[in-house]
Amino acid sequence: MTKYTVQQHFEFHQRSWPSKRIDKAPIWCSVDLRDGNQALKNPMNPENKLKIFKTLVQIGFKEIEISFPSASKTDYEFTRRLIENGHIPPDTSIQILTQARKHLIIKSFEALRDAPNVIIHLYNSTSPAQRNVVFKKNCSEIINLATDSVKMIRDESTKHNGKVTLEYSPESFSQTEPDFACDICNAVIDTWDPQADEKVIINLPSTVEISTPNNFADQVEYVINKLHRKENVITSVHTHNDRGCAIAAAELAILAGAQRVEGTLFGNGERTGNADLITLALNMFSQGIDSGLDFSDISSVSDVYTECTDMPIHPRHPYAGELVFTAFSGSHQDAISKGLSDYNQKGGVWQVPYLPIDPKDIGRSCENIIRINSQSGKGGAAFILNEICGFQIPKNMFAETGKTVQKTADKKGRELSVEEIRNAFMTEFVNRSENVRISEYNIDESTVTDNRHQICITANLLHSGKEVTVKGKGNGLLDALSNAINSYGLKYQIISYHEHSIERGSNAKAVSYIELENEDKKRCFGAGIDTDIALASVLALTSALNRLYR
Ligand code: KIV
Ligand code: ZN
Repeated sequence: MTKYTVQQHFEFHQRSWPSKRIDKAPIWCSVDLRDGNQALKNPMNPENKLKIFKTLVQIGFKEIEISFPSASKTDYEFTRRLIENGHIPPDTSIQILTQARKHLIIKSFEALRDAPNVIIHLYNSTSPAQRNVVFKKNCSEIINLATDSVKMIRDESTKHNGKVTLEYSPESFSQTEPDFACDICNAVIDTWDPQADEKVIINLPSTVEISTPNNFADQVEYVINKLHRKENVITSVHTHNDRGCAIAAAELAILAGAQRVEGTLFGNGERTGNADLITLALNMFSQGIDSGLDFSDISSVSDVYTECTDMPIHPRHPYAGELVFTAFSGSHQDAISKGLSDYNQKGGVWQVPYLPIDPKDIGRSCENIIRINSQSGKGGAAFILNEICGFQIPKNMFAETGKTVQKTADKKGRELSVEEIRNAFMTEFVNRSENVRISEYNIDESTVTDNRHQICITANLLHSGKEVTVKGKGNGLLDALSNAINSYGLKYQIISYHEHSIERGSNAKAVSYIELENEDKKRCFGAGIDTDIALASVLALTSALNRLYR
């Protein structure tokens, strides 16, 4: 194969990044309104740009690249609108992008008039292909292009009513020889002459991602090590996603020394996009690191994003996608329900299998964690019935309820809604009377001796269309009734009994669950629901009998 070859393979053997860990968040800079916007089929209108800007501020971004004002009238006007209408919080810097050309720099400053904190983001391309093919300039001419622009920015900044920070990007950095990248960045630093209170941002972009993230990290660490005046430099990266590794590349670049990261919400940006700052920030959050960004209501961020960019969010997008906290598989559901119930009881460190973070931390409800289709098992059905429908189905009943729900899913051949799961449970287990029914019962005698409740009962039993009167005696209602039914010939014993209340106030009801075993050792559960707890237990008993003798 001759058409493609390894691009810009660079190995820095003195690398230290592999043994480091991310232990604090970088400075975040959103480039949604510039890189993200430039990549849209239909760029955002000013209203939508403003909505995104306000959302970014709410999330907590303190540096926001808002426009390329010298390149577009809409961007120029949007910049003026933000400044003139007071939309920029005092602790937030707006950043604009400009090419290294005099009239564009002057126009950019004009757009930024009276903005208190601005970052002028200057870029020129530095890779051999760009130098030789596009610009037809040698290395020193390319350096001069950058330093001449830096001088111009310095001149303009002395006239600007507000603080000006310089950001310089050697565009196509990852395809540039690292030594040349050092030379041009150092020429910029020396020309700007940054101070402790006026640091310069050196931003290293993978304009096109052409290699593995470890290679990018080597390039970043090598260049950062050689930068002049490092104490007055903020090192930054801006990764693109051509190979699908923009997030990984940004993370390894942080290990390699990057203090700042540029990216966008959901990774919107040129071609395959930029680094997704939501994923980056929540990756840190999931490791106990305060990202400084607030994604506690991820759904409203998603809504603003989709509305303004007209771009969908993939259902499997990390953290934010519709399906990312959902388990359909039975074994996963089982592990999740056990993990959740353990966490709900004990708290402490989050260790719920298959859920890297608690969905509630980003405003996602538990409802969608477990969804039921024919792949699901007993744990999933029990989770929906217990955690969402309000039942407290006993553990021994999980297998039977699971089978019932799975049969329903198989029959429908699709995912079941919560309502369909509840209906399947109600139909199979609750208040059944088609074959066995107690139409009436009377307690003839009720005595308590030595803490034992003795009851004598007479009941009307309907079985297979026949009505008989049965009598029995026992310790409590269920025992007496069972002895009466057994005397008629339906032989069984009660294995377990559970009850709880469901709903509150005037709607309160009792739910009973009874497990029976017949002479053939066959076991079955039944459930009863009624406002009267005694009646609920009788209904549970007859439901179980209907299932046992169906
Ligand atoms: O991807 C890129 O190189 C850019 C620069 C302007 C930083 O967007
Ligand atoms: Zn970019």
